[in-house]
Amino acid sequence: MNKKCQVFTPADYVEELLDSVGYTENLYGKRILENSCGDGNILVAVVQRYIDDCNRQELSKEQIRAGLANDICAIEIDKEQYEKCICNLNNVLKLNDLQSIKWNFYNNDYFQIDDVGKFQFVVGNPPYITYKEMKKDQQTFLKNKFKSCRKGKFDYCYAFIEKSIDCLVEDGEMAYLIPSSIFKTVFGENLREYIKPYIKEIHDFTQAKMFNNALVKSAIMVLSKNNKNANLLYKDIAAGIEIIIDKINLDKKWFFSNDAIPGTRRFGDYFQVSHVVATLLNEAYVLKKENYIELDGYYQVNGVNIEKAVVRETATPRSKRYKKIEKIIFPYSYDKGKLVKYSQNDFISNFPGAFQYLDGFREQLDKRESDKNAKWFEYGRSQALATLNHRKLLVSTVITDTVSVYPLDKKCIPYAGMYIITRKRNQLYKLDDAKTILESDEFMQYVKKVGIHISGSSLRITSKDIEEYRF
Ligand SMILES: C[S@@+](CC[C@H](N)C(=O)[O-])C[C@H]1O[C@@H](n2cnc3c(N)ncnc32)[C@H](O)[C@@H]1O
Repeated sequence: MNKKCQVFTPADYVEELLDSVGYTENLYGKRILENSCGDGNILVAVVQRYIDDCNRQELSKEQIRAGLANDICAIEIDKEQYEKCICNLNNVLKLNDLQSIKWNFYNNDYFQIDDVGKFQFVVGNPPYITYKEMKKDQQTFLKNKFKSCRKGKFDYCYAFIEKSIDCLVEDGEMAYLIPSSIFKTVFGENLREYIKPYIKEIHDFTQAKMFNNALVKSAIMVLSKNNKNANLLYKDIAAGIEIIIDKINLDKKWFFSNDAIPGTRRFGDYFQVSHVVATLLNEAYVLKKENYIELDGYYQVNGVNIEKAVVRETATPRSKRYKKIEKIIFPYSYDKGKLVKYSQNDFISNFPGAFQYLDGFREQLDKRESDKNAKWFEYGRSQALATLNHRKLLVSTVITDTVSVYPLDKKCIPYAGMYIITRKRNQLYKLDDAKTILESDEFMQYVKKVGIHISGSSLRITSKDIEEYRF
C-alpha cells in the first residue's frame, strides 16, 4: 500500500467537485461512488448534502437511512483509512440525529472489484502514483486491463479515470481532481483520447497552491457520459478566465487557448534542440572553481593533477545564471568534427592524472545505468556529444517567468539543460536569431501554453516543445 498517495482534498475543492456534477438536489435514489475515499473527506460532504436534500423533500428518517445505505458506495484499500472513514460518517449520522446504518463500503482494491455496479455520479481524488513507484506486477496488470495504460509510463490515476467512466450510467456525471499534467504529458495520449468524448469542463488550478505539501498541480475535470457537446469549457481559476475550446483543436497535447498560432515557420526546421550530455555522476566529472588549483598544464583537485588537455569549459543554465565557473573532465576528443572514444589503455597513458582521479569514484561510476557500450570512465549518456562540438545556445528545461538563453563556445560541454544548434541546411537564420526568438514575449506565451506546471510559476518544457514552436 503506497501511503504517499494519501493526500486529501481541501474542503473548498470538495464543494466544487460536488457542485460541478450537480450533486445538489433530488439526490434520493441516485447512486454515487467514491472509489478511493481515504478517511472520507469528500464523503462527509456527500452524506451531509444527501441528508439535507432528503430533509427538504420531507422524507422520513427510515427512508433517509435506507437511501444512504443504498445510494452511497465507497471503496478504500487502506484498512486504517477505511475505518476512520466509517467513524467520520457515523459521526455525521449522529449530528443529524440518525441511527447508524450498514454502509455500502468496501475495504478493497478498486481494481479487484469486478462488478461494482453503475452510478449516476462518480466523484473523487484518485491516487496519483507514477509508473516508477508502482510494483512490476501492478504495471503489467494495469497495462493489460486499461486502454489508457497501454502506452509508456502511465500514472496509476489513468486506470482510475477509465474504470470510473465505465461505471457511469448512460447519463451519469463524474468529477475528479487530477494532476493537470495529464493534459500534456506524452504518455497521457491514450487517456486523453479516452476521455475526449465525455469531458465537458476543466477547472484548472495550476497556479493555485492546493496541497500544502504536494507539488502536484491539480485540476478538476468534469465528464458526462452522454455528452454531445463538441466544445469544452476551460476555466483558468488563477487568471479568472473562461474559454470555450472546440475539441477538434485538441490534438496530441491539449492547449487551452483559441489564439491563432503566431507564425508559420517551425523553429525545429531551422534549429536542432537536444538535451545535453548526462554524466550520471556529475560530482566525478565537474570541477568547481572553489575545489581546484590551476597549475601549469593541470587542474589540481585533492592533490591529484588532472591534465588540462582532458578538461573543458562547462555550463548549466544555473551556473550561467549565477556566473559560476566550472570545468568538466571530458574523456573524449574530436577528430575533424567526429567524436573519438579512447580505449582504456590510451586513456591511462595519455591522462594518468585524470584516470587516477576518476578511479577514486570507481564504485559509483560502475553503478550508473549507463549506455550499453559506455566504458566506466566515460559519461553515462553520451549521445549528445555527436553534435555538441558547435557554437550553441543553452536553455533550461524549467522556465520561471522569463526564458534565459546563453550562448556557449564550440568547446564548452554543458551538462544540464537543452542546447540549440543551427541545422546544416538553414541559410536563413543565425544562432543570434534563435536567441531573439526564444527570449521574445510570444515564445513565453507559448511556454505558458505547452509547459507542464511543476511548482510556483515554474513550467517544464521539452526539446520537442521548442522545435514545434512557430514564429
Ligand atoms: C488522494 S487520496 C484521496 C482520498 C479522498 N478521496 C480525498 O479526496 O480526501 C487517494 C486514496 O486512494 C486510496 N487508494 C490507493 N489505491 C487504491 C485502490 N487500488 N483502491 C482503492 N483505494 C485506493 C489511498 O489509500 C488514498 O486514501
